[in-house]
Amino acid sequence: MSLLKIIKYPDPVLETEAEPVTEFDEGLRKLVEDMFETMYAAPGVGLAAPQVGISKRVFVMDCSGGRDPEQKIAMINPQVMMKEGEQTGEEGCLSFPGIYFPVTRAMRAVVRAQDIDGEEFEVDGMELTARCMLHENDHLEGVLFIERTSPLKREMVKRRIRKLIKQGEW
Ligand code: NI
Repeated sequence: MSLLKIIKYPDPVLETEAEPVTEFDEGLRKLVEDMFETMYAAPGVGLAAPQVGISKRVFVMDCSGGRDPEQKIAMINPQVMMKEGEQTGEEGCLSFPGIYFPVTRAMRAVVRAQDIDGEEFEVDGMELTARCMLHENDHLEGVLFIERTSPLKREMVKRRIRKLIKQGEW
């Protein structure tokens, strides 16, 4: 396994719609393994392929931070089947290190995806699981969490990042 470089905003790959996966081969298996390793090392609870520069519809997540094997999930070609309710909570993103702000999302989400062998499965998740699946699924559409806040907050975050880039601290 190897650690992948995490791409930071404003790299255009992060705002590009990712391509469906058609080959469930060794290359995909390796990508998923490397993405898990990179996510745990960061550390983070979710990582989407565009965040490592691969514009494919793949994300990995583990809301237990490695404590519960059942929560270690790779979703390939995911589709959001159902969303319900609302929750507002602090959110971060590995492509925006050190930046956190409240984001409102559905309280519950049902997401259907393929596993590493191409088999379909579904996750019916609440709270952090729902938040994580929706945040990562957004990445595959090229939608970033700064789009899920108010225009004012978004401009504040962008300004802060521009300043950090100028200072060589991003
Ligand atoms: Ni993210």
